[in-house]
Amino acid sequence: FPVENIRNFSIVAHVDHGKSTLADRLLELTGTIDKTKNNKQVLDKLQVERERGITVKAQTASLFYNCEGKQYLLNLIDTPGHVDFSYEVSRSLSACQGVLLVVDANEGIQAQTVANFFLAFEAQLSVIPVINKIDLKNADPERVENQIEKVFDIPSDECIKISAKLGTNVESVLQAIIERIPPPKVHRKNPLRALVFDSTFDQYRGVIANVALFDGVVSKGDKIVSAHTQKTYEVNEVGVLNPNEQPTHKLYAGQVGYLIAGMKDVTEAQIGDTLCLHKQPVEPLPGFKSAKPMVFAGMYPLDQSEYNNLKSAIEKLTLNDSSVTVHRDSSLALGAGWRLGFLGLLHMEVFNQRLEQEYNASVILTTPTVPYKAVLSSSKLIKARRAVQKNMIFIDQNRVMLKYLFPLNEIVVDFYDSLKSLSSGYASFDYEDAGYQTAELVKMDILLNGNTVEELVTVVHNVKAYRKNVLAKCYGGDITRKMKLLKRQAEGKKKLRKIGNVEVPKDAFIKVLKTQ
Ligand code: GTP
Repeated sequence: FPVENIRNFSIVAHVDHGKSTLADRLLELTGTIDKTKNNKQVLDKLQVERERGITVKAQTASLFYNCEGKQYLLNLIDTPGHVDFSYEVSRSLSACQGVLLVVDANEGIQAQTVANFFLAFEAQLSVIPVINKIDLKNADPERVENQIEKVFDIPSDECIKISAKLGTNVESVLQAIIERIPPPKVHRKNPLRALVFDSTFDQYRGVIANVALFDGVVSKGDKIVSAHTQKTYEVNEVGVLNPNEQPTHKLYAGQVGYLIAGMKDVTEAQIGDTLCLHKQPVEPLPGFKSAKPMVFAGMYPLDQSEYNNLKSAIEKLTLNDSSVTVHRDSSLALGAGWRLGFLGLLHMEVFNQRLEQEYNASVILTTPTVPYKAVLSSSKLIKARRAVQKNMIFIDQNRVMLKYLFPLNEIVVDFYDSLKSLSSGYASFDYEDAGYQTAELVKMDILLNGNTVEELVTVVHNVKAYRKNVLAKCYGGDITRKMKLLKRQAEGKKKLRKIGNVEVPKDAFIKVLKTQ
């Protein structure tokens, strides 16, 4: 396939602005999938994604499109929209030369629209603004055009107005991809240089690495080396994603596809790693920062007899999600378990839901906490301020963008829900790590008959916080699901746990943990 006829692009958007719906229409228009009424979020393969209507794992699809007698290969990389998963967005972008920035014609620019735009802008990608949902009664595409011009400095006449749901004007998105996104800059004659931008684990075939080829060619039988581990592998299969895996003889520079080479687990196919030929080593491509867990929680089997099953379920699931960290832990009340690190609250819930749905596991999760660095001295004298305003930008007459420096633990639990309810759903929110800050914090022990109960220990801002409404910490988004889970747990388990010399029903523990 001639390189000048290849386009690698991603769709980025704020949650629910219509990325997946647009992806479905593009797949249909290019004949990649048949046009049926059932094409809803084809790239969202996981059950949890379909149920929650969110994208968790980025998916890739290669589309063929004929335009003015030429055939083009358009590689689409789907990206998740929620803040918790923004690390997936940046790594998907490393394989692209352009993005479609989808903005809802009614809601306009939102927090993740801004965050995603800057990720694309910093990666020097071409940005095509697409104003979606113009069929809505309250749609105001002109207002959104003006916002885009004001905030991103993109001339308003570059915006494409579409309805992904109805298919209106989607063809002009394909035209724009060809005209405005440059083909990848690659060298096919140079030795192989392939970037691993995602990897999944298949029970039967091992690791499937998604790769973007910057230089050279790779075929079945080639001996390749990972720049990260220096391990050598023989390539068993290469192919394109259509959106399902379709083996091909070779993959050429400029193409995006998959590669199977007998790697046993995803740590062998590190995201950001460079693969090259064994005989022709090359300078690795710049990798990217690995995802950093921000929220930690203890996970225990509902019943200790389920420990081994849960252990193997967690192992399998983390094979597909290397951003979750796992450390063994144990608790007097809940037995042997693990301490898991997640990117955010939604990530934690999605992981939990996948354990239940895909592995039939029942677990107890302790209240999430955030990491602290403790300095053991008596000089923490200055009272920390909890939030500091950094700047304020008016996006238009009705919308303002505020930047604050917040302690992470103030925002991970209920901040997003409070913000949504205070603003009747109009405000949106995004965050990035600003590093550790000094603060006056206290470790709060809860004693039961004079003994500390480890599971209930929390770090609080000052002693007054002890009187805070403890229910406020419950992550509002999913209360009903949690209640259901809680009820199920309460019904089934009536075991007692002994702390010191006090018998505590396990149910009581679970209830306290859930409401803390
Ligand atoms: P995430 O994957 O969670 O980031 O969401 P998304 O951006 O992929 O949004 P999705 O495609 O799932 O669309 C969100 C909702 O908007 C769905 O209910 C769609 O049916 C609806 N929707 C998408 N495009 C249109 C459109 O053009 N018009 C109307 N009226 N609704 C649309």
